[in-house]
Amino acid sequence: MKLPAKGIPEGELFKRLEAFREHDVRWRDGRTLAYVYDLSEQVEAVVKRAYAMYLSENALDPTVFPSAVRFENELVAMAAAHLRGGPEVVGNFTSGGTESIMLAVKTARDYARKTRGVRAPEMILPVTAHAAFHKAAHYLGLKAVVTPVDPVSFKADVAAMRAAVTENTVLLVGSAVSYPQCVVDPIVELGQLARERDLLLHVDACMGGFLLPYFRRLGEPVPEFDLSVPGVSSISIDFHKYAFAPKGASIVLYRDAALRRHQIFAFARWYGYPIVNPAVQSAKSVGPMAAAWSVLHYVGDDGYLEMARSLLAATKRLKAGIEAIEGLRLVGDSEMNLVAFTSDREDLCAFHIIDELRARGWFTHPQLSFEGAPANVHLAVNPKFAGQVEPFLKDLAAATAAARGRQRSELVENLLGVVSSLASGAGEDLELDQETFTQLMAMAGVEIGGSLEASSTINEILDALPPALREQALTLYVNALFVPPRESAAT
Ligand SMILES: Cc1ncc(COP(=O)(O)O)c(C=O)c1O
Repeated sequence: MKLPAKGIPEGELFKRLEAFREHDVRWRDGRTLAYVYDLSEQVEAVVKRAYAMYLSENALDPTVFPSAVRFENELVAMAAAHLRGGPEVVGNFTSGGTESIMLAVKTARDYARKTRGVRAPEMILPVTAHAAFHKAAHYLGLKAVVTPVDPVSFKADVAAMRAAVTENTVLLVGSAVSYPQCVVDPIVELGQLARERDLLLHVDACMGGFLLPYFRRLGEPVPEFDLSVPGVSSISIDFHKYAFAPKGASIVLYRDAALRRHQIFAFARWYGYPIVNPAVQSAKSVGPMAAAWSVLHYVGDDGYLEMARSLLAATKRLKAGIEAIEGLRLVGDSEMNLVAFTSDREDLCAFHIIDELRARGWFTHPQLSFEGAPANVHLAVNPKFAGQVEPFLKDLAAATAAARGRQRSELVENLLGVVSSLASGAGEDLELDQETFTQLMAMAGVEIGGSLEASSTINEILDALPPALREQALTLYVNALFVPPRESAAT
């Protein structure tokens, strides 16, 4: 595919853009319980207008675009106040939870190197901590020391984390809330441990940081998790989740500027302009900041409180409704608005329920089984879903009944047989190559890049594989997916 020889007229161009998303998930109706955080049409219009207004401004150089500094400092101030930080708190705007987490990990690594001479840094993570910490460890050369969680509450086991501390530990991590089961780790106890051992503690409040304070104001028993807890040295909060900013809006906060200093990268030893970047990106649009600032001002505290009230009521009703369906049970006792459920029945597979829900117009997320947590269905309650809990529960009951008795297909069984014979001898060290993987996918009837209307085949295969092979399969899938079209442009 080459650049078109002549430019395309605007009308035709936008027609094509519209057509490209024909098969995208239809999220505006509130039936997609993952991926998109959507409050209302009005909010969507406001954030798009603000984003477009600042799209071309560049936050690379704060001296040239003071608007960017203003947005960033005001967003940080609002995040710090929301998370009860003191006057010393500083922070930065980032592109998302992953970037905030990577920066907090980099800061901890460099702080420990400077203050304690740690050269082989380790961070201690409960197994429920977001994968972004593992990505940070991978990119930044730290060892991730994973500790178990309580098997019933899915909260961090502080004693296990205490036992994992070594002279190389640079960071402890807790979540508020964790993504998989939506619970708040014992942050107060983790703060005590951090203070006792003079360690840094990062709270991943990417998911919960915005909504939990509202749930607390509505009378929920939300555990302490924010900057008011002694020992918390940094915290991340995403505005692009339940503050409904468009994607590309997160904040990482530090207890003070002396710590944050280790986050900043400056470079003046080359022929070009001197670089100083607080975050990962260098040149970047001011659009995401302008949009995040605008949504916070447009919706306002009272608007968010009302939204939280509606999410809270819907989540409570949803949890009760799921528990009332024979064969289903909740995984963990969600403390916010994400809900995971599974079935202990031999003849009922979570992935088949997901397919049956999809066939009824509901898009939910699969979570694979891992170390004591069963395969399960994950739902994020969104504002537009709040009015649709009853029809959802009706469809869930029907989907559960339809999924009951559906066995693993012969196809999946055969495929797993092939994988296990390939693995015999090699075990977890089995290295799948791209060609074998392509053949396996063809055997499973999975078209790379094809629609995943019924995804249970893939999920069952992944679930049956050991984690190292799951990771290889995912890598090879994506390696095959992102291949540029070789032929002329599709019209
Ligand atoms: C608890 C938690 N931390 C971090 C992240 C990563 O955020 P992002 O997808 O914005 O990088 C998520 C995403 O859902 C999350 O739930």
